[in-house]
Amino acid sequence: MKLHVKVNGVARVVEVEPLRRLLDVLRVDLGLTGTKEGCGEGECGACTVLVDGVAVNSCLVPVAQADGCEVVTVEGAGFERVREEFLKEGAAQCGICTPGMIVMTRAWAERCRAEGSEPSLDAARTALAGNLCRCTGYGAIVRAALACAKGRA
Ligand code: FES
Ligand code: FES
Repeated sequence: MKLHVKVNGVARVVEVEPLRRLLDVLRVDLGLTGTKEGCGEGECGACTVLVDGVAVNSCLVPVAQADGCEVVTVEGAGFERVREEFLKEGAAQCGICTPGMIVMTRAWAERCRAEGSEPSLDAARTALAGNLCRCTGYGAIVRAALACAKGRA
């Protein structure tokens, strides 16, 4: 099929097998290797991207489902402040989980703003609960997410 998708603000048309994973099309066909593969089965969140503003595990999404959608990956615009907070807090080590954490943090921060809810450490933990990190530990990650949601960067 011909996939029509907007990726990080740019309209793309790609010839793809409809059941290929969105993760692979982003990384292999479009060269957007910022999105990582961890478990490959929807458990770790390393492959998180935004599809029409909703955070999804791209390893679970058949690419046909993204047809006509707007996809945002960690390479897209608008992640600068989140990256800065992660750097300030030292919230990355091997980096495999980091793009997914950053995408999820942005989605959560935007949700807080849209809902007018007060961000807290507990809420940050809940928001990032589906994203696993096997090395840094969650303290720094959750602090970076909270700082981002509070918009203090
Ligand atoms: S690689 Fe997709 S959830 Fe782990
Ligand atoms: S920094 Fe290595 S898995 Fe999170």
